[in-house]
Amino acid sequence: MTQIKIVRTLRDLRGQIWEWRGSGETIGFVPTMGALHDGHLSLIRLSHKHTSKSVASIFVNPTQFAPGEDFESYPRTEEADVAALASAGCDLVYIPEPGSMYEENHSTSIHITGVAESLETDHRPTFFDGVAIVVAKLLNRCAPDVAIFGEKDYQQLATIRRLVIDLDMPVKIVGAPIARDAHGLALSSRNQYFDVEGLALARKLNVIMQDCAEKMRGGMNVDLAAAQAKQTFLDTGFESVDYVSVASTHSLTPLAGGILDRPARLLIALHCKGVRLIDNCEI
Ligand code: PAF
Repeated sequence: MTQIKIVRTLRDLRGQIWEWRGSGETIGFVPTMGALHDGHLSLIRLSHKHTSKSVASIFVNPTQFAPGEDFESYPRTEEADVAALASAGCDLVYIPEPGSMYEENHSTSIHITGVAESLETDHRPTFFDGVAIVVAKLLNRCAPDVAIFGEKDYQQLATIRRLVIDLDMPVKIVGAPIARDAHGLALSSRNQYFDVEGLALARKLNVIMQDCAEKMRGGMNVDLAAAQAKQTFLDTGFESVDYVSVASTHSLTPLAGGILDRPARLLIALHCKGVRLIDNCEI
């Protein structure tokens, strides 16, 4: 198991990064909010394929939670997270001291249009502003060569790609395939909120999504297939569906007239026993 280094100050983080850079190492970075599962660890393992050193961060970012969301109750499992990162071969974990990420007079915001509009933003209007500022700060702090983000948060990944292009940030963004459990449920820190019944229902999300994608691939109008899938989710017992949408793989623009005329992604957000789930797949 790698001897993982834990740093809590920006000074210590930069000191270690500069030391590594001085000896020719390259840096891969995996930002997280902790409550780590095998999906996160797969990002660390992917980072090793790109760079010689891997760095993770653990920071539950308050600015990406809206009032009434689960910021306070978000699982905080630092000790287990550090052990899991070490087992995946992570070299360093940056756990910023509380209060050190946003100074009291923090006044800068980043608002991204285009890919960051619609879908999640229709339901969580300030989410990507919060993600953009924290990811920009973490990338500036860590200065990695490569940063890895999971495709489960597909719109987030597209938004971060836009962010680093628009702000000329010298980092390569790599998307990692969605990690799923043996029943196809996309791994998520929030899955631990489920009881047995909730988990059984949540596992039907991927089944219905794959069936919908198959119909679209088979030539069914994507708007019709999406509407049918939405109804199936409700009939199956999901409380409500935020969206079942099809968007162009790269720009995330909707397909006109429901015609599958370019590479596209099926994206879904819904509520399952009090937990909001998102998932997606290539069509
Ligand atoms: O995907 C997440 O866990 C978070 O949105 C991120 C990228 C770590 C920013 O807080």
